[in-house]
Amino acid sequence: MPNRYSVPQLPYAYNALEPYISEKIMQLHHDKQHAAYVNGANTALDKLEKARKGEAQIDIRAVLRDYSFNVNGHILHSIFWPNMAPAGKGGGKPGGALADKIEASFGGFDKFKAQFSDAAKTVEGSGWALLLYDPETDQLVLTQIEKQNFMHLAQMTILLGLDVWEHAYYLDYLNDRGKYVDNWWNVVNWSDVDSRLSKAKKCNFLFLSLATVKYISSEFIPYTMPIPFVVERNYLWRSYSSACTACNTCNMVEPELSLFDIFETCFKRLPTVSLHRFLLV
Ligand SMILES: [Fe+2]
Repeated sequence: MPNRYSVPQLPYAYNALEPYISEKIMQLHHDKQHAAYVNGANTALDKLEKARKGEAQIDIRAVLRDYSFNVNGHILHSIFWPNMAPAGKGGGKPGGALADKIEASFGGFDKFKAQFSDAAKTVEGSGWALLLYDPETDQLVLTQIEKQNFMHLAQMTILLGLDVWEHAYYLDYLNDRGKYVDNWWNVVNWSDVDSRLSKAKKCNFLFLSLATVKYISSEFIPYTMPIPFVVERNYLWRSYSSACTACNTCNMVEPELSLFDIFETCFKRLPTVSLHRFLLV
């Protein structure tokens, strides 16, 4: 079956986050809840494919709503698992570039942590608190997501997510979401968050849309593009587009595209003539 979603493996044992998140919760959350989102997203894709082939009639609005709900559930959980690490490896405070960015964006780690916790505790109903990187302003921002399919945050990359659906904590904390949020900080995997920030900034640097490359590539000629030109192109592209669709991997754990991969797969084939036309827009 082509192009379907699958549940990623947990990067640690089910009981690795105890005593903050129990083995039972992790088993149910990962094996049942996440799997249900994956199945739902794949089912929606199947329905859309059958409709395109004329093999079924669908209510496309309902199917697309199902798809967005389930695929966003899949993406958010795929980020959530590696965002955490066993106590001892996780928790504490971030360092390096992430710490600097938190300082610049929030005025300090404690202020960020307090505001993120506040966002998580006050999500109305089921949902998420997220830390995002905004390439337009080059800063970190927070958002809440109610349920999980109302999240049109074009161009922003999710760095850190906290699941505050009841299935994420009720068995351990009953209705005390606040205690769950406070304890969750003990298992945050800051190296994963830092790595996601680094990838997000690379995508922003290139700001390349594969779809756009296809669109403007009416002819292919050999590529010789120096780095300064890429910077220039990035600047111009940002001037004309509010949405980065760089590689569609920003919010996914796999597959990962390196800077080199992007050059190899995209810029190498970019036609100079069309590119000049693009720059003169
Ligand atoms: Fe969840």
